[in-house]
Amino acid sequence: MCGIVGYIGHRDAIDVLIPGLEQLEERGYDSAGLAVANGHGMKAIKLVPEHSASPAKELRDHPDIVGFRGSTLGLAHTRWATHGAVTVPNAHPHTDERQRIWIAHNGIIENEAEIRAALQRDGERMRSQTDSELIARLIGRALDAQPGLSLEDAVRAAVAKLEGTWGLVVASNDHPDELVVARNGSPLLIGKGDGEMFVASLEDAFLRYTRRMIVLEDGDVLTVRADEVHGSLHETVELDDEELVVEDTIESEHIMRREIHAQTTTILNAINHGGRLLFGPGKAKLGGLDSHRDELLALRHLRTVACGTARYASDYGVQLLEQYGGFETVQSLAASEARPECFPAGTGVLAVSQSGETMDTLDVLKRAREEGHTLFSIVNRVGKAIPRETGLGVYTNSGAEKAVASTKVFTAQAVVFVLMTLWFGRQRGAVSKDEGRRVARELMALSDNVGAILAGEDEIVKLAEVVNGADDVYYIGRGLAAHIASEGALKITEVAYLHAQALAAGELKHGPIALLEPDFPVIALVPNDDTRDDMISALKEVKARGARTIVIAEAGARVPEDCADALFSVPATHPWLAPLLCAIPLQLLAYHVARIRGINPDRPRNLAKSVTVK
Ligand code: G6P
Repeated sequence: MCGIVGYIGHRDAIDVLIPGLEQLEERGYDSAGLAVANGHGMKAIKLVPEHSASPAKELRDHPDIVGFRGSTLGLAHTRWATHGAVTVPNAHPHTDERQRIWIAHNGIIENEAEIRAALQRDGERMRSQTDSELIARLIGRALDAQPGLSLEDAVRAAVAKLEGTWGLVVASNDHPDELVVARNGSPLLIGKGDGEMFVASLEDAFLRYTRRMIVLEDGDVLTVRADEVHGSLHETVELDDEELVVEDTIESEHIMRREIHAQTTTILNAINHGGRLLFGPGKAKLGGLDSHRDELLALRHLRTVACGTARYASDYGVQLLEQYGGFETVQSLAASEARPECFPAGTGVLAVSQSGETMDTLDVLKRAREEGHTLFSIVNRVGKAIPRETGLGVYTNSGAEKAVASTKVFTAQAVVFVLMTLWFGRQRGAVSKDEGRRVARELMALSDNVGAILAGEDEIVKLAEVVNGADDVYYIGRGLAAHIASEGALKITEVAYLHAQALAAGELKHGPIALLEPDFPVIALVPNDDTRDDMISALKEVKARGARTIVIAEAGARVPEDCADALFSVPATHPWLAPLLCAIPLQLLAYHVARIRGINPDRPRNLAKSVTVK
């Protein structure tokens, strides 16, 4: 959430900063800016994109950008607004009263009101509504108070007054050969090049120049020069593992559609092409869990913590683990709502996160560690804060997910939960060998089944045209499918700005049915399992009110003709997996409604790919 890039070295800083911002852009894209120094004065440029959803691209095309060339030191930021509206003054970088220093900041300053009041009493007039600008002002005042103070000491004096979180990079025209960086709670890295240094909130911004980096710790304030990181005692980490690359399987102008189609590959990756399955005994082989087998099998309670889409994958997994994992209690918690009393003694806390850095989720882990619980995780990205905190887990192996709305990682997370259910359930005797074998066989067939659904995309385009005409839509399902309905509703809300509500189908008649009227779309998920009959009853109730039903059904579920105005079939499979297959048409539906509405689904408004503030 929000992206920071900094550079000091021998290249034209603009050539590092703008491509770096492009790499981080899915973390925040409502505005952006950069500042460069060349010893004659610093200058900055900030903008709110007017013509595209890419502020970095608009910086690149900005008529004034030529005047920023030729500098070898600079910093840049792409923003997801927390404090203050989306305006040019609120965009970063921010500066002090006399415009000597410029900063880019990620995080939230909690004692903002107090600092603002004190600065205003001293006569400072702010240019923005942000908490970040206050940091620039504090640094400026420290320099005023003690001429000749080093930039690092001025930053130290400023951060000593702050409460909250920061990842901070500071440049000054009076110190054209250094950047100062500071961290507390927000990720910040220094990429080490040959006679050049890169600063970024995520290594993606500098990976094409160097794989050697220093990971800042909380409390750090460091001076970065082209050839040294002054005073750092941190080890240099060598990123030797190239991040897994998942090739596109189709051409499309939108990343989201390419990632939906890549699920034929990512689902195979999640089972390691069968390498995570033991077909004979019908078991799962998960290296991380196997290495802590006794500790994990001793757990009596399980709590998952996650946000957004990862939370719905967790709901799905928790229902399986509750029935088949052999735990006394299992619960899926929205990370922001997890209270200490949710975690009884002997609890395993399982964090689920695509990015591996969501602050709400990380915060729960830190508390749970202090309380002595066993931590583990399902994450997609190696080396991020959440897997570092848990030290134990399972990777989804989906390759980088770049569209803001998660698709391929969602299905991979659900598949990993199926594997975990086999892992716990088979070892605890809660799942029979035959059942385990059936699940393993169907997991192997899942990618082909997804491929068959994707081949029917044209049918979904027709359904999207129908749904596009609506102002509201209900998604209904029961059992495992209820969680897929929730994810389907979230997806269309996020990317198509269509108000969608997911309901456990049995709840419809207890209130929400009041909204039904002719043509109101109700999207119903009907796997061919023990929820099938109740789903047909729910569909009858819906049809009796004249609403329009779009049914996603597992082959063989025998949906009566008068219950479905439109019917999309997914291949028959194991009951643990059929609801998951229904997620694919719902992802395509969300994508196509967005496309028809002229919305760029890769950069939906107000969202960011990962949220590293509370
Ligand atoms: C943000 C994103 C959501 C995502 C959630 C959790 O809110 O907008 O799409 O599901 O974070 O992200 P994580 O990286 O922890 O899975």
